Amino acid sequence: MKDCFKHHPWHIIEEGFNPHHNKIAESVFSIGNGRMGQRANFEETYSGETLQGSYVAGVYYPDKTRVGWWKNGYPEYFAKVLNAPSWIGIRVTVAGQELDLAKCKVDQFKRVLDMQTGLLSRSFTATFPDGKQVQIESKRFCSMAKGELGAIRYSITPVNFSSPASILLDVDADVRNMDSNYDEKFWDEVHKHSVEGECIVTAQTKKTFFHVCTGIRYSIQEEGKETDIKVTTGLREKYASNSVELNLNQGKQLVIYKYAAVLSSENHPKEKIVDHCKSLLEDTMTTGFDQLYADHSKVWEHKWNECDITIDGDVAAQQGIRFNIFQLTQTYTGEDERLNIGPKGFTGEKYGGSTYWDTEAYCLPFYLGTSEQKVARNLLVYRYKHLARAIENAEKLGFKEGAALYPMVTINGEECHNEWEITFEEIHRNGAIAYAIFDYIRYTGDEEYLVDFGLEVLIGISRFWAQRINWSDDKKKFVMLGVTGPNEYENNVNNNWYTNYIATWTLNYTRQAINYVKSKNPEKYKSLSGRITFKEQEPLEWKKIAENMYFPEDKSRGVYLQQDGFLDKQLLTVKELRKEDRPLNQKWSWDRILRSCFIKQADVLQGLYFFEDHFDIDTIRRNFDFYEPMTVHESSLSPCVHSILAARLGYEEKAYEMYLRTARLDLDDYNNDTEDGCHITSMAGTWLSVIKGFAGLRVKDGELHLSPFIPKQWQSYSFRIEFRQRVLKIKVSRKGVEAILMEGESLSINLRGKSYTLTTNQVIEESL
Ligand code: BGC
Repeated sequence: MKDCFKHHPWHIIEEGFNPHHNKIAESVFSIGNGRMGQRANFEETYSGETLQGSYVAGVYYPDKTRVGWWKNGYPEYFAKVLNAPSWIGIRVTVAGQELDLAKCKVDQFKRVLDMQTGLLSRSFTATFPDGKQVQIESKRFCSMAKGELGAIRYSITPVNFSSPASILLDVDADVRNMDSNYDEKFWDEVHKHSVEGECIVTAQTKKTFFHVCTGIRYSIQEEGKETDIKVTTGLREKYASNSVELNLNQGKQLVIYKYAAVLSSENHPKEKIVDHCKSLLEDTMTTGFDQLYADHSKVWEHKWNECDITIDGDVAAQQGIRFNIFQLTQTYTGEDERLNIGPKGFTGEKYGGSTYWDTEAYCLPFYLGTSEQKVARNLLVYRYKHLARAIENAEKLGFKEGAALYPMVTINGEECHNEWEITFEEIHRNGAIAYAIFDYIRYTGDEEYLVDFGLEVLIGISRFWAQRINWSDDKKKFVMLGVTGPNEYENNVNNNWYTNYIATWTLNYTRQAINYVKSKNPEKYKSLSGRITFKEQEPLEWKKIAENMYFPEDKSRGVYLQQDGFLDKQLLTVKELRKEDRPLNQKWSWDRILRSCFIKQADVLQGLYFFEDHFDIDTIRRNFDFYEPMTVHESSLSPCVHSILAARLGYEEKAYEMYLRTARLDLDDYNNDTEDGCHITSMAGTWLSVIKGFAGLRVKDGELHLSPFIPKQWQSYSFRIEFRQRVLKIKVSRKGVEAILMEGESLSINLRGKSYTLTTNQVIEESL
C-alpha cells in the first residue's frame, strides 16, 4: 500500500514530483467522457517513465494471438482498444532547451484532479540547465457535454528571464500500444494537414479500418491579449504540427488554449469526417475554453446529483467512493449501446479494453441504481447481440445445437482470451450473463425483457451447461470436470462448487423463463422455439440435471468445498504469509500458487453473495469464516463481495476494512499494479459495498428493503437511488435511517423489517 495522494473530499492531490510514482499518477488522474479518455500524461515532452495512453471508445484492433504453445480452440486474435492519436502535445523549448520534467529541476509540483467538475490541473516551476526558470500551469478536460471535444489551458510564466521560445502544438497518430504482440503499429495514415492555426490527422486502424480523425486549433495570449507569433507548419507520417515562435517576457503569463476534436467513423461517415472535424473545431474556437468548461461542469453537476454518495466524518472513505464513481461515470455513460465497460476503462491498455463478466456481475447493479433503466438494459442487449458469436464460440470447442459459451474477454463477441485454463475452463462467466438477466428483472420488474431478448440467451447458456456436465457412475451424480472458478489461483479443477451452483441455477431459471414466455406471449414463444429448433424435452433433461448435480461439501465443517480435493491442501491463513511473499502473483511460481490454499477472489463466497436467499445465515457465516482468512484479494473484484457479506453477517469492522480496500485500491495502489491503469469494473463493487453492504439494500418480491448500519468511523452517509421510475434519497446517521421519495409514484419500502408506503416528498425515519 502506498500513500501518494492527499486526502480531500472532492480532489485527488499529488504534491511534489516523484518520477517513481508517475505511472501510478498517470492512471489515477486519467480523464474521459465515455467516448474518449486519456491517461494523465504531460502536455510537454517527458523522457522519464511513462505509459502514454489516449483511447477512443469502440475502436479496436485484432492483434494476432501470441502464445507459447498453440492449443486447438484458441482464438486467433485478441481485440484491443487502441492507444489512439494524441492531441495533448504542447512542447516548449527555451533557448535550445526542451522543457522536460526528467531533465529540468522541478519545484512546487502539484497535480490535482477535481472530480466535482472533471478537471485535471497541474502546476510547477521548472529550472532549465542554464538556470532559466518557468512557472507552468495546465488545465485539461474531455468534455462531458460534447463527447468529441477536449480542451487545454496551458500557461507559461518566465520567472527570471525574457527570451525567444518555441512551442510545438501537434496531433500525433504515430503512436503504439505497449502490449502490441508483434511490436507492430496499429494505425495507417489516411489524411493529414497542417495550416497556420490548425492540424488534422485521420488515421485508420489496420484490419478493422476504423477511422479516427483528430484535429486541433489553438489561440495564444499574453496577459489576455493576442501576441505576436510566427508559425511554421510541419508534417510527417501520421503527424501534423504547428511550431510557434514567440517571445517570453519575464513575469508575463503566456496562455495557450489548445482545443481538440476527436471523431470516429463509428459516428461519422468516413468521407465527411474531416469536414465534421473542421466545423467542430470552428465552433469550439468561438465557444472558448471558459464556456466549454462551464458546459462540461454542468454535466458533472447533473451526474453527481444522480450518483454521489456523501460520507461525513471520514475523508479517506469519502474521497475513495467519489473517485470510484467519478472513474466509472467518465468511462461509460450508457448512451451508446455498442459500448461496454473495460476493466481499465480509459486508464490503460491492460485487458485490452474488452468486456469481461465484470460487467454483469459487478457493474450492472451500479447502473441499475444510478441511471435510467435503459442503461442497464443496453448492457444486457449488448450480450444478446453477441449470442450468435457465443454459439460459434461454443461450436469451436465442440458443443452443438445452439449451445452458447460467451467469451471471457471480448469486444465484438468473439473470444479473445488465450490461456487454456481461462478460455476453455473459466466458464462460470456464462452463468453471470444469465444471472444479470435475473438481476435486472428482479430490480426493474421488466419481465418483458425475457420475451424480447432474455429467454433466447438463457436457452443458449442452458444448452451449454447441459452439454458441459457428465454423469459420474461413481458418484451417481452429474459432475463438471476441468474448470476454473472465479478464483483463478486454481486451474483445471473438478466440481468447482460455484460453477456447479450457477449452472444448476441457470437451468432452473431458464425453465421458469420458458413457462413465463409461453404463457405471456405464446406467439413469440412459438416463433422463437421454431427459429432455434427448441425441443420440448430439453427442459426435462435440464430438470434431471439440476436435481442430480453434485456439490462438494464438508459436512463436518458445514462448508461447501471450493472444488473436489480442496481439503487435501495445507490449510493456512493469509496472516501466516510473510510480507515479502505478497502479492503472491508477483512473488510465487504458478505451480506453488495452484498447490496452495490461497484464494485470489471470492469463489464459494461469490455464490453465497449472488444467491444469498438460498442459504441460512449460519451457512453463510461458516463459509465466510472458513474462506475469508485464506483470501489474498489479489483481484480487485474481491474485497467488495467480502465487504457486502461481512456487513450481512454483522462483521462491521471487516466490512469497513474491505470497503476501504476496494474504495482506495488504486489511490493507495494496494495490489502494486495501478501503474497499468485503474480497476474500473471493480469500482462498481465499491458502490455496491456501500449500497448493498452498509445500507443492506435488497429487492425482495418487488419491494425495496434496507437494513443499514453505519461504520463507527462515519458520522453519516447518504445516497440517491433509482428504483422502478422512482428516485429515493436515503440518509443513514448515528440516529437512524431516513428515506425520502424525491420523484415518482408512491411505493412500499421496507426499513429494518418494517414496511411503509412512501408518497412523494414524504420522509420516513427508523432508528438504528
Ligand atoms: C479476475 C477476473 C476478472 C479480470 C478482469 C482478473 O484478475 O480474476 O475475475 O474478470 O481480472 O477484471
